[in-house]
Amino acid sequence: MSTLDAAFDVLQCPSCGEPLSPADGGAECGNRHRFDRARQGYLSLRAAHKGKGAPATGDTPEMLEARERFQADGFHDAIAEAVLEAVPEDSRGWLADLGGGTGWYASQVLDASPDLRGIVLDASAPAVRVAARAHDRLAAVSADVWTGIPLRDASVAVALRIFSPGSAAEVRRILAPGGRAVLVVPHGDHQRELQHGLKLMRVPAGKAEEVAASIPDARLVSAREVRSRVALSIEQALDAVFMGPNAFHQDREKVRAVLEEWAAPINVTIAVTVVTLELE
Ligand SMILES: C[S@@+](CC[C@H](N)C(=O)[O-])C[C@H]1O[C@@H](n2cnc3c(N)ncnc32)[C@H](O)[C@@H]1O
Ligand SMILES: [Zn+2]
Repeated sequence: MSTLDAAFDVLQCPSCGEPLSPADGGAECGNRHRFDRARQGYLSLRAAHKGKGAPATGDTPEMLEARERFQADGFHDAIAEAVLEAVPEDSRGWLADLGGGTGWYASQVLDASPDLRGIVLDASAPAVRVAARAHDRLAAVSADVWTGIPLRDASVAVALRIFSPGSAAEVRRILAPGGRAVLVVPHGDHQRELQHGLKLMRVPAGKAEEVAASIPDARLVSAREVRSRVALSIEQALDAVFMGPNAFHQDREKVRAVLEEWAAPINVTIAVTVVTLELE
Protein backbone atom coordinates (compact mmCIF):
# COMPACT_ATOMS: atom_id res chain seq x y z
CA MET A 1 0.00 0.00 0.00
CA SER A 2 1.37 3.43 -0.88
CA THR A 3 1.90 5.98 1.87
CA LEU A 4 -0.86 8.13 0.35
CA ASP A 5 -3.30 5.19 0.49
CA ALA A 6 -2.36 4.58 4.13
CA ALA A 7 -2.83 8.29 4.88
CA PHE A 8 -6.63 7.91 4.49
CA ASP A 9 -6.49 6.73 8.13
CA VAL A 10 -5.80 10.33 9.17
CA LEU A 11 -7.13 12.55 6.36
CA GLN A 12 -10.40 14.46 6.67
CA CYS A 13 -12.52 16.47 4.28
CA PRO A 14 -11.40 20.12 4.08
CA SER A 15 -15.00 21.20 3.45
CA CYS A 16 -16.90 19.43 6.25
CA GLY A 17 -14.37 17.58 8.44
CA GLU A 18 -15.80 14.11 7.76
CA PRO A 19 -13.32 11.26 7.21
CA LEU A 20 -12.22 10.72 3.60
CA SER A 21 -12.15 7.43 1.72
CA PRO A 22 -10.56 6.54 -1.60
CA ALA A 23 -13.03 6.86 -4.50
CA ASP A 24 -12.59 6.71 -8.29
CA GLY A 25 -8.87 7.29 -8.06
CA GLY A 26 -9.44 10.34 -5.83
CA ALA A 27 -11.12 10.86 -2.47
CA GLU A 28 -14.65 11.35 -1.19
CA CYS A 29 -16.28 12.10 2.18
CA GLY A 30 -19.66 10.95 3.54
CA ASN A 31 -21.20 14.25 2.34
CA ARG A 32 -20.07 13.55 -1.22
CA HIS A 33 -17.36 16.20 -1.39
CA ARG A 34 -14.93 14.89 -3.99
CA PHE A 35 -11.24 15.50 -4.46
CA ASP A 36 -8.75 14.59 -7.16
CA ARG A 37 -5.55 12.67 -7.00
CA ALA A 38 -3.04 14.13 -9.44
CA ARG A 39 -1.14 11.96 -11.87
CA GLN A 40 2.01 13.17 -10.15
CA GLY A 41 0.99 11.28 -7.02
CA TYR A 42 -0.42 13.92 -4.65
CA LEU A 43 -3.96 14.42 -3.39
CA SER A 44 -5.58 17.79 -3.85
CA LEU A 45 -7.62 18.67 -0.74
CA ARG A 46 -8.73 22.20 -1.55
CA ALA A 47 -12.11 23.28 -0.16
CA ALA A 48 -14.23 25.71 -2.18
CA HIS A 49 -12.66 29.11 -1.47
CA LYS A 50 -14.76 31.34 0.80
CA GLY A 51 -12.57 34.12 2.24
CA LYS A 52 -11.63 37.45 0.71
CA GLY A 53 -8.91 37.62 -1.92
CA ALA A 54 -7.41 34.86 -4.00
CA PRO A 55 -6.92 31.35 -2.54
CA ALA A 56 -3.39 30.59 -1.34
CA THR A 57 -1.31 29.18 -4.18
CA GLY A 58 2.01 28.97 -2.31
CA ASP A 59 5.49 29.10 -3.72
CA THR A 60 6.27 29.24 -7.43
CA PRO A 61 8.68 26.79 -9.13
CA GLU A 62 11.37 29.52 -9.17
CA MET A 63 11.02 30.02 -5.40
CA LEU A 64 11.15 26.27 -4.78
CA GLU A 65 14.27 25.89 -6.91
CA ALA A 66 15.98 28.77 -5.09
CA ARG A 67 15.12 27.16 -1.72
CA GLU A 68 16.28 23.71 -2.91
CA ARG A 69 19.66 25.15 -4.00
CA PHE A 70 20.02 27.11 -0.75
CA GLN A 71 19.25 23.99 1.31
CA ALA A 72 21.55 21.80 -0.85
CA ASP A 73 24.36 24.33 -0.25
CA GLY A 74 24.07 23.48 3.45
CA PHE A 75 22.93 26.83 4.84
CA HIS A 76 19.95 25.31 6.67
CA ASP A 77 21.75 22.17 7.88
CA ALA A 78 22.03 23.48 11.44
CA ILE A 79 18.26 24.12 11.47
CA ALA A 80 17.62 20.60 10.16
CA GLU A 81 19.86 19.17 12.90
CA ALA A 82 17.87 20.98 15.58
CA VAL A 83 14.62 19.70 14.05
CA LEU A 84 16.00 16.14 14.04
CA GLU A 85 16.99 16.46 17.68
CA ALA A 86 13.47 17.59 18.53
CA VAL A 87 11.87 14.38 17.20
CA PRO A 88 12.63 11.21 19.23
CA GLU A 89 13.95 8.50 16.89
CA ASP A 90 11.45 5.99 18.27
CA SER A 91 8.46 8.18 17.33
CA ARG A 92 5.75 6.14 15.65
CA GLY A 93 2.61 7.03 13.74
CA TRP A 94 2.20 10.04 11.47
CA LEU A 95 4.20 13.20 10.94
CA ALA A 96 2.56 16.24 9.31
CA ASP A 97 4.81 18.84 7.67
CA LEU A 98 2.64 21.97 7.43
CA GLY A 99 3.67 24.27 4.60
CA GLY A 100 6.30 21.59 4.11
CA GLY A 101 7.32 22.66 0.60
CA THR A 102 9.31 19.96 -1.18
CA GLY A 103 9.58 17.80 1.95
CA TRP A 104 13.25 18.53 2.64
CA TYR A 105 12.80 18.48 6.43
CA ALA A 106 10.16 15.73 6.48
CA SER A 107 12.43 13.37 4.50
CA GLN A 108 15.30 13.83 6.95
CA VAL A 109 13.05 13.19 9.96
CA LEU A 110 11.65 10.04 8.29
CA ASP A 111 15.20 8.79 7.60
CA ALA A 112 15.99 9.17 11.30
CA SER A 113 12.67 7.70 12.56
CA PRO A 114 11.88 4.41 10.80
CA ASP A 115 8.47 3.97 12.47
CA LEU A 116 7.10 7.31 11.26
CA ARG A 117 5.20 7.97 8.07
CA GLY A 118 4.71 11.52 6.88
CA ILE A 119 2.42 13.85 4.98
CA VAL A 120 3.55 17.16 3.48
CA LEU A 121 0.68 19.64 3.25
CA ASP A 122 1.36 22.67 1.11
CA ALA A 123 -0.63 25.15 -0.95
CA SER A 124 1.88 25.00 -3.79
CA ALA A 125 1.11 22.39 -6.47
CA PRO A 126 4.71 22.39 -7.77
CA ALA A 127 5.93 21.82 -4.19
CA VAL A 128 3.70 18.82 -3.47
CA ARG A 129 4.60 17.37 -6.87
CA VAL A 130 8.22 17.22 -5.68
CA ALA A 131 7.26 16.13 -2.14
CA ALA A 132 5.23 13.20 -3.54
CA ARG A 133 8.47 11.66 -4.80
CA ALA A 134 10.77 12.78 -1.99
CA HIS A 135 10.58 9.71 0.28
CA ASP A 136 8.93 6.25 0.30
CA ARG A 137 7.22 6.96 3.61
CA LEU A 138 6.03 10.44 2.62
CA ALA A 139 2.67 11.36 1.07
CA ALA A 140 1.87 14.78 -0.37
CA VAL A 141 -1.35 16.76 -0.14
CA SER A 142 -2.16 20.11 -1.69
CA ALA A 143 -4.01 22.06 1.01
CA ASP A 144 -4.43 25.55 2.43
CA VAL A 145 -3.32 25.16 6.05
CA TRP A 146 -4.76 28.61 6.92
CA THR A 147 -8.32 27.59 6.23
CA GLY A 148 -8.02 24.34 8.24
CA ILE A 149 -5.67 21.37 8.17
CA PRO A 150 -7.38 18.38 6.47
CA LEU A 151 -6.21 15.95 9.16
CA ARG A 152 -8.31 14.35 11.88
CA ASP A 153 -8.26 15.44 15.52
CA ALA A 154 -5.41 13.87 17.54
CA SER A 155 -4.10 12.05 14.46
CA VAL A 156 -0.37 12.90 14.32
CA ALA A 157 2.62 12.14 16.53
CA VAL A 158 4.72 14.97 15.07
CA ALA A 159 3.74 18.29 13.46
CA LEU A 160 6.43 20.39 11.76
CA ARG A 161 5.85 24.04 10.86
CA ILE A 162 9.08 25.41 9.47
CA PHE A 163 9.15 28.96 8.05
CA SER A 164 5.48 28.41 7.28
CA PRO A 165 2.10 29.87 8.17
CA GLY A 166 -0.70 28.20 10.12
CA SER A 167 -2.76 28.49 13.28
CA ALA A 168 -1.57 27.10 16.60
CA ALA A 169 -5.12 25.97 17.40
CA GLU A 170 -5.09 23.75 14.32
CA VAL A 171 -1.67 22.33 15.23
CA ARG A 172 -3.05 21.56 18.71
CA ARG A 173 -6.14 19.91 17.24
CA ILE A 174 -4.24 17.44 15.03
CA LEU A 175 -1.65 16.42 17.69
CA ALA A 176 -2.19 13.05 19.36
CA PRO A 177 -1.62 12.69 23.12
CA GLY A 178 2.15 12.75 23.70
CA GLY A 179 2.61 14.31 20.25
CA ARG A 180 5.22 16.94 19.47
CA ALA A 181 5.04 20.18 17.50
CA VAL A 182 8.33 21.49 16.11
CA LEU A 183 7.99 25.12 15.07
CA VAL A 184 10.79 27.11 13.42
CA VAL A 185 10.51 30.86 13.97
CA PRO A 186 12.86 33.33 12.25
CA HIS A 187 14.22 36.13 14.45
CA GLY A 188 13.93 39.81 13.60
CA ASP A 189 17.56 39.78 12.41
CA HIS A 190 17.28 36.65 10.24
CA GLN A 191 18.89 37.58 6.88
CA ARG A 192 19.02 41.17 8.20
CA GLU A 193 21.83 42.27 5.86
CA LEU A 194 19.64 41.44 2.85
CA GLN A 195 16.49 42.79 4.50
CA HIS A 196 18.04 46.17 5.29
CA GLY A 197 20.35 46.56 2.33
CA LEU A 198 17.73 45.67 -0.25
CA LYS A 199 14.80 47.14 1.69
CA LEU A 200 12.95 43.85 1.50
CA MET A 201 9.56 43.32 3.03
CA ARG A 202 9.46 41.25 6.18
CA VAL A 203 6.89 38.64 6.92
CA PRO A 204 6.40 38.75 10.68
CA ALA A 205 6.47 35.16 11.88
CA GLY A 206 5.66 35.94 15.51
CA LYS A 207 8.14 35.96 18.35
CA ALA A 208 9.71 32.76 19.62
CA GLU A 209 8.27 33.40 23.11
CA GLU A 210 4.77 33.78 21.67
CA VAL A 211 5.13 30.62 19.62
CA ALA A 212 6.44 28.77 22.70
CA ALA A 213 3.23 29.76 24.52
CA SER A 214 0.92 29.25 21.54
CA ILE A 215 -0.44 25.87 22.70
CA PRO A 216 -1.33 26.59 26.31
CA ASP A 217 -1.78 22.97 27.40
CA ALA A 218 1.47 21.77 25.83
CA ARG A 219 4.77 21.46 27.68
CA LEU A 220 7.72 23.45 26.34
CA VAL A 221 10.37 20.79 25.67
CA SER A 222 12.99 23.20 24.29
CA ALA A 223 13.48 26.50 22.51
CA ARG A 224 16.78 26.18 20.73
CA GLU A 225 18.33 29.17 19.03
CA VAL A 226 20.22 28.43 15.82
CA ARG A 227 22.40 31.36 14.85
CA SER A 228 25.26 31.73 12.37
CA ARG A 229 26.72 34.12 9.84
CA VAL A 230 27.20 32.63 6.39
CA ALA A 231 29.30 33.94 3.50
CA LEU A 232 27.29 33.85 0.27
CA SER A 233 28.18 34.18 -3.39
CA ILE A 234 26.02 36.55 -5.44
CA GLU A 235 23.95 33.60 -6.74
CA GLN A 236 23.47 32.23 -3.22
CA ALA A 237 22.42 35.65 -1.92
CA LEU A 238 19.95 35.88 -4.81
CA ASP A 239 18.55 32.49 -3.81
CA ALA A 240 18.23 33.68 -0.19
CA VAL A 241 16.09 36.60 -1.41
CA PHE A 242 14.09 34.78 -4.08
CA MET A 243 13.21 31.65 -2.11
CA GLY A 244 10.88 33.81 0.00
CA PRO A 245 7.86 36.03 -0.64
CA ASN A 246 10.05 38.87 -1.89
CA ALA A 247 10.14 36.89 -5.12
CA PHE A 248 6.63 38.26 -5.75
CA HIS A 249 7.84 41.88 -5.54
CA GLN A 250 11.46 42.05 -6.68
CA ASP A 251 13.25 41.78 -9.98
CA ARG A 252 16.13 39.29 -9.90
CA GLU A 253 18.31 41.28 -12.31
CA LYS A 254 17.86 44.54 -10.37
CA VAL A 255 18.74 42.80 -7.10
CA ARG A 256 21.72 41.14 -8.80
CA ALA A 257 23.04 44.58 -9.85
CA VAL A 258 22.89 45.82 -6.23
CA LEU A 259 24.57 42.67 -4.87
CA GLU A 260 27.33 42.95 -7.46
CA GLU A 261 28.04 46.45 -6.22
CA TRP A 262 28.34 45.13 -2.67
CA ALA A 263 30.66 42.37 -4.01
CA ALA A 264 30.90 38.77 -2.75
CA PRO A 265 31.13 37.32 -0.22
CA ILE A 266 27.84 38.67 1.11
CA ASN A 267 27.74 37.92 4.84
CA VAL A 268 24.24 37.04 5.99
CA THR A 269 22.87 36.23 9.45
CA ILE A 270 20.86 33.06 9.93
CA ALA A 271 18.85 33.35 13.16
CA VAL A 272 15.89 31.18 14.11
CA THR A 273 14.48 29.48 17.17
CA VAL A 274 13.35 25.87 16.97
CA VAL A 275 10.49 25.58 19.46
CA THR A 276 9.44 22.08 20.54
CA LEU A 277 6.15 21.56 22.36
CA GLU A 278 4.71 18.29 23.66
CA LEU A 279 1.17 17.41 24.60
CA GLU A 280 0.48 15.42 27.79
C1 LIG B 1 9.18 29.57 3.29
S1 LIG B 1 8.49 28.11 2.57
C2 LIG B 1 9.01 26.83 3.69
C3 LIG B 1 8.92 25.44 3.10
C4 LIG B 1 9.49 24.32 4.00
N1 LIG B 1 8.88 24.30 5.32
C5 LIG B 1 10.98 24.47 4.13
O1 LIG B 1 11.42 25.16 5.06
O2 LIG B 1 11.69 23.92 3.28
C6 LIG B 1 6.77 28.33 2.98
C7 LIG B 1 5.87 27.25 2.41
O3 LIG B 1 4.54 27.49 2.85
C8 LIG B 1 3.66 27.26 1.76
N2 LIG B 1 2.43 28.00 2.03
C9 LIG B 1 2.23 29.34 2.03
N3 LIG B 1 0.96 29.63 2.37
C10 LIG B 1 0.35 28.45 2.60
C11 LIG B 1 -0.98 28.07 2.99
N4 LIG B 1 -1.91 28.98 3.24
N5 LIG B 1 -1.25 26.75 3.13
C12 LIG B 1 -0.30 25.81 2.90
N6 LIG B 1 0.96 26.11 2.54
C13 LIG B 1 1.28 27.40 2.39
C14 LIG B 1 4.44 27.72 0.54
O4 LIG B 1 3.97 27.15 -0.67
C15 LIG B 1 5.85 27.25 0.90
O5 LIG B 1 6.11 25.94 0.42
ZN1 LIG C 1 -16.97 16.75 3.11
